[in-house]
Amino acid sequence: MPSLNRQVRVVTRPTGIPQAEHFKIVQEPGPAVGEGQILVHNHFVSVDPAMRGWLADVANYAVNSKGHASGAIQIGGVMRAMAVGEISGSRHPRYRPGDFVTGWFGWQDYCATDPRAVVQRVPPTELPLSLWLGVLGLNGVTAYLGLSILGNLQAGQTVIVSTAAGSVGATVGQLAKLQGCRTVGIAGGPVKTRLCVEEFGYDAAIDYKADNFAAALAEAVPEGANLYFDNTAGIISDALRNHMAIGGRIIICGTASVANWDPTPIGPRSERYILTRRLTVCGFIAFDHADQWGEAVENLLPLVRQGKLRYREEILDGIEQAPDAVAGLYRGENLGKRVIRL
Ligand SMILES: NC(=O)c1ccc[n+]([C@@H]2O[C@H](COP(=O)([O-])OP(=O)(O)OC[C@H]3O[C@@H](n4cnc5c(N)ncnc54)[C@H](OP(=O)(O)O)[C@@H]3O)[C@@H](O)[C@H]2O)c1
Repeated sequence: MPSLNRQVRVVTRPTGIPQAEHFKIVQEPGPAVGEGQILVHNHFVSVDPAMRGWLADVANYAVNSKGHASGAIQIGGVMRAMAVGEISGSRHPRYRPGDFVTGWFGWQDYCATDPRAVVQRVPPTELPLSLWLGVLGLNGVTAYLGLSILGNLQAGQTVIVSTAAGSVGATVGQLAKLQGCRTVGIAGGPVKTRLCVEEFGYDAAIDYKADNFAAALAEAVPEGANLYFDNTAGIISDALRNHMAIGGRIIICGTASVANWDPTPIGPRSERYILTRRLTVCGFIAFDHADQWGEAVENLLPLVRQGKLRYREEILDGIEQAPDAVAGLYRGENLGKRVIRL
């Protein structure tokens, strides 16, 4: 049993984007491993835009059909998070000390848990462990499954991606490109748009914060987009509805640009555009497809190894970085998948 366990706990429920003051760091004795449980020593914990929704006092998409973490996080509880770590103790026959796993282990050093919290076993590879939270974890799997289940891509089609320089977005852009599509990324600021083109191979990238956003969009997709992989909602999606090709698809994967859904934000009506352009709009939640997680990783792993799928990570050092880390994502300050090294 470890002597100490540092934990990031939720002290008040945020309205909108969680800020540093909504959390506190505590130390307590390390957990004991109960019968049938494993003890995971977290090496990296994930920081995800979805944490805003998990903290909201309403049902959110961590609630899923496959029994993973569910419901709003309790005040006083450890912040829910995916993590990757080493099993340092086991009272379960199928898990051995020394194995590495990812799962719902929270923002803390150690987690004693039922193995149902495990999302995947990490095979021994030469790759950095942190990748199992990013391009080989939730973000890569979301991109892969979103495209393969709903994308229906054909070579030569035009694909637009929002949060294009981020972890999910950059993977979507590259996977679409590998399938012979023309890719257009939307990101905030010149550093990220340059990254989109130079590092992630987008054919064009547009800065949604620039004054010429609407004109740049019209120029980038003169014949309309066949697929919009929407990670933001809000003003980016409002602009995009005028630039979809007839029969186009919109995959709604995230709503990063809308800080609060209560009360429901009011925006332009899209129904006429959806009707006249015969669009298909579909929501996508990766956790609904947990049974395909392994297949997604099997396909992503060789691409990463061969350098065909590039990734960026932003590693913050120390659990002290956690309380402000989600707000930082919403300030757009991350260049790549944000993880915290413990
Ligand atoms: N449905 C699913 O199963 C699932 C799973 C994982 C992630 N997601 C979603 O995928 C999206 C990307 O997640 P990620 O983990 O890869 O994060 P990320 O893109 O690496 O980081 C979040 C990015 O969101 C952008 N952003 C923040 N506030 C914004 C605003 N007001 N308007 C427009 N963009 C804003 C920022 O990029 P800029 O600087 O470019 O603005 C920021 O860097 C999120 O919406 C997330 O919720 C969905």
